[in-house]
Amino acid sequence: MITLVKNHHGLVADALVARVRDALVCRSNPVIGLATGRTPLLAYATLAAQSRDLPGLDRATFVMLDEYLGLPTDSPDRFANVLRKHVLGPLGLDDSRLVRLNPDAADLGLECERFEGRLRELGGVDLQILGIGTNGHIGFNEPGAHGDSRTRVVRLDDSTIADNTSALISADEVPRYAITQGLGTILDAKEIVLAATGVSKAEIIAELVDGGVDEKVPASVLRHHPNTTVIADQDAAGRLIGHVSEKSHPVSSMQVSR
Ligand code: F6R
Repeated sequence: MITLVKNHHGLVADALVARVRDALVCRSNPVIGLATGRTPLLAYATLAAQSRDLPGLDRATFVMLDEYLGLPTDSPDRFANVLRKHVLGPLGLDDSRLVRLNPDAADLGLECERFEGRLRELGGVDLQILGIGTNGHIGFNEPGAHGDSRTRVVRLDDSTIADNTSALISADEVPRYAITQGLGTILDAKEIVLAATGVSKAEIIAELVDGGVDEKVPASVLRHHPNTTVIADQDAAGRLIGHVSEKSHPVSSMQVSR
């Protein structure tokens, strides 16, 4: 696992965008897994601003990481709607380019199998973008999730429900359940980039980067993955004690040409 520390959120976003561009250029039919949440939104806005200059976009398929259960179809908090608003719409792509997790399916078990089957048909995910919860969740794999878990319905951890109580835009009732790619499903991606920003992530990033593999920190399974990069801003990296692969220079020490 490689760890990059960037000076601020904007540079984390730029680094994410660079990975997406690489996947679009280097893969013949790029399959890109998209996290939602607040962290990647700036990267998605940067991508949207570059929409006219994204080689490979016409060959790309995007894949959902997770979705809440129990929200109305038009809820702005539904992750499919978030991705339509921040990624598909601005990039001029229609719904057929998004592999969705359908929370309205009559049989959610079958829906999870259908989703896994679709990923296999596509040849797997080339690049998976992840955020991380303050409790170490990736997707909605909460503490205790098994490293070989597949796409399934999960109950959200109490701490996630508490975090979401302030984060959700419109939900009268904060969802208690979700569908999520499993940890094993996520680990099948050829490349994974996990982004973290802000002081609220400092503790969990230190546990992820400096700790061992532990079911209490679901993201720690990424240590088993051969091509994972953690990109943190200085606030999120504030409690790291070691293993930092690259640190960008503090702005104050950069040479400025006049
Ligand atoms: C969202 C997701 C979650 C978020 C995590 C961090 O699709 O899977 O794991 O990445 O909760 O959320 P933010 O970025 O809002 O701190």
